[in-house]
Amino acid sequence: MEIIHISAECYPVAKAGGLGDVVGALPKYQQKLGHIAKVVMPMYRTKFLEQNEWEVDGTGSAYLGDWNFQYTIIREKTNKLGFNLYLVDIHGLLDREKIYGYDDDPQRFIAFQIAVLDWLKQWHHLPDIIHCHDYHAGFVPFMLKYCIGYRSLSNIRSVITIHNAQYQGWLGWDKSHFIPEWDPWKSGMLDWNDTINPLASAIKCADKITTVSWSYLEELRYSANGLENLFEYEKGKSVGILNGIDADVWDPATDSYITNRFSVAGVTRGKAANKKVLCKEYGLDSKLPLVVFIGRLVGEKAADILADSILAALYALQGNMCFLVLGSGDPHVEWQLTTITDRFADRYNVVIGYNEQLSHQMYAGADFLLMPSRVEPCGLNQMYAMRYGTVPVVRSTGGLRDTVIDMGDEGGYGIRFNHASVDDVRYSLERAAEVYADKKKMSAMRKTMMQVDNSWDRSAQQYMEVYESLL
Ligand code: ADP
Ligand code: GLC
Repeated sequence: MEIIHISAECYPVAKAGGLGDVVGALPKYQQKLGHIAKVVMPMYRTKFLEQNEWEVDGTGSAYLGDWNFQYTIIREKTNKLGFNLYLVDIHGLLDREKIYGYDDDPQRFIAFQIAVLDWLKQWHHLPDIIHCHDYHAGFVPFMLKYCIGYRSLSNIRSVITIHNAQYQGWLGWDKSHFIPEWDPWKSGMLDWNDTINPLASAIKCADKITTVSWSYLEELRYSANGLENLFEYEKGKSVGILNGIDADVWDPATDSYITNRFSVAGVTRGKAANKKVLCKEYGLDSKLPLVVFIGRLVGEKAADILADSILAALYALQGNMCFLVLGSGDPHVEWQLTTITDRFADRYNVVIGYNEQLSHQMYAGADFLLMPSRVEPCGLNQMYAMRYGTVPVVRSTGGLRDTVIDMGDEGGYGIRFNHASVDDVRYSLERAAEVYADKKKMSAMRKTMMQVDNSWDRSAQQYMEVYESLL
């Protein structure tokens, strides 16, 4: 089978969060299963672009509204990622430093999708499946079915994976001229509440919808940033498939980002050595339990209650815990997290920014990983933490609920709580401090969680079954 993934992110080319990790891994595992998987993404100005060799695979021109733009599709020459990687270069529009955050993002991603389909039209054969990821690729299912210029592609089946339904890419109808000419009877397939909504359009038009965990699929029917009824209506073609983790990238026994590598048998010693290095670097007391938070500092992740929760736990535990936070996002949250550094100098530190290497060192060196997320479609951090023997402390939601078993339950290795509130987090951290004192239990939990199979092997197979059901 030949599958084309269309995405705004793909690790290690460009990553803002878990979407990048998934698109960097799933195609590799599909290739391993004997299929042809290709990833097409915008050509941003990244290090990966500079450091690798490329060849031109296609060129063409298309219209975005009145603007006739030229595009070039380049392919990475060496198959470095384990699948064919294509970048779409649209000069002046996509070749920028950041992935998102520009005023013209809607135009950028529409032009990207137009260029991809225009290029596919030039192929001598049709791929079997176009797999779209999030709203950045959300117009594709509509374009395949209803845009006049893409009729030759209309037999290709499409799948939309919802990594995060909070972001929908809304667009006023005044911008409808950016979308290539379509069958006017089908305008409703673009619309949700009098707005053009690419995510809603993909949900309506794709042949199959997948969400990145089972619980998230359930939750979307009552909490989907306005799309609840649509998810309820389309439940017949929806399926939850839990993300996996890339076992080549996230393996404490081989990870080149960490100083002390370890496997299951040597977990206690290995983690202690990594913790020492980390605590020294960030001025923390390595004898105390170390709790880390890694992620986007936004409301979905409940980052706004982080500073207060950390303070509450430090008071409740009389300072017998250490914290290290890594993230960036909401400036007010960044400020909150920065100002509290003075209050508990050797107990708390924060790094504002994005740092892939430090994140690996934190998964390896921490005792606990905190995720109080309000919304967590899947969450990869908790699975990385588990692979590195770090106890996940998570709110019971979405993929966190599907992947973490509370230590009070049979076979459990984590700590779960119900509310994204200071009280629930503080109470859970008190539980963490208690179990930390029980060396035997800690060691047993670490060993259990490190052996949980969260690799992509299983989920990649489930995606193949979804595709097969469409052919
Ligand atoms: P989301 O995609 O919603 O941000 P996920 O848990 O799916 O959440 O994935 C987050 C990914 O981004 C993980 O690989 C995590 O390690 C990484 N990450 C998030 N913030 C940072 C940061 N500041 N520095 C390094 N890595 C980060
Ligand atoms: C989104 C979600 C996150 C998920 C990731 C990868 O960014 O917020 O929970 O793990 O996509 O699917």
